[in-house]
Amino acid sequence: MINLSPLFTDRLELQPATPALAKAQLAFELSNRAHLARWEPLRDEWYFSEISAGLRLRQYQRDAEEGRGVAFLLTLKGVPERVIGQITLSQIVRGVFLAAYLGYKVDAAHQGQGLMREALEVVLAFAFDTLRLHRIMANYQPDNERSARLLERCGFVIEGKAHDYLFLNGAWRDHVLTALTNPDPVLPA
Ligand SMILES: CC(C)(COP(=O)(O)OP(=O)(O)OC[C@H]1O[C@@H](n2cnc3c(N)ncnc32)[C@H](O)[C@@H]1OP(=O)(O)O)[C@@H](O)C(=O)NCCC(=O)NCCS
Repeated sequence: MINLSPLFTDRLELQPATPALAKAQLAFELSNRAHLARWEPLRDEWYFSEISAGLRLRQYQRDAEEGRGVAFLLTLKGVPERVIGQITLSQIVRGVFLAAYLGYKVDAAHQGQGLMREALEVVLAFAFDTLRLHRIMANYQPDNERSARLLERCGFVIEGKAHDYLFLNGAWRDHVLTALTNPDPVLPA
């Protein structure tokens, strides 16, 4: 069980995913449909419905309840009803791995303001200090320059390249594999 509370930065409130935000989440996904399509699986029309958004947010809650993952919805401070981004830590594995995959996206109109970097700082601190994970992995397509710059700024190190790694936007896509390890040594329980 992972207990989640909101995380705060100078400009942002990161709210744990909850079906109560389904309408706001759907608005974010609809207005960023073209912006995100290149980096995501193909979506059908059902995906862009409030019921479907609510079910996805409920699944994120279950993942936290079962210790498998966490998802935060990014909102600007003082505007808690408008989602402008999302960060997930998925496939959390404990034992001798203590690792998770990082995912992130921000509203097209809010790029280039350092908001994702600001949000990742608190999420990575949460992953390392609260969840006590050892390794966070983040992978991007070679032509995703913004993602590459963001990860580099956050200290992620390139560990390799994977051919035909994920089936995104209708085809298998090569990825650059990166990871960040906890500066504070963590030992398996
Ligand atoms: C990847 C993604 C999250 C990066 O967003 P971003 O806004 O570029 O990232 P940051 O929040 O770190 O902002 C950095 C930019 O803000 C600028 N900036 C402006 N004000 C700033 C501030 N106060 N502090 C820090 N940076 C600031 C930086 O100079 C930088 O601009 P540059 O990249 O043109 O040099 C975004 O492009 C996105 O959502 N893409 C689609 C989904 C996606 O690709 N997800 C990842 C799949 S692997």
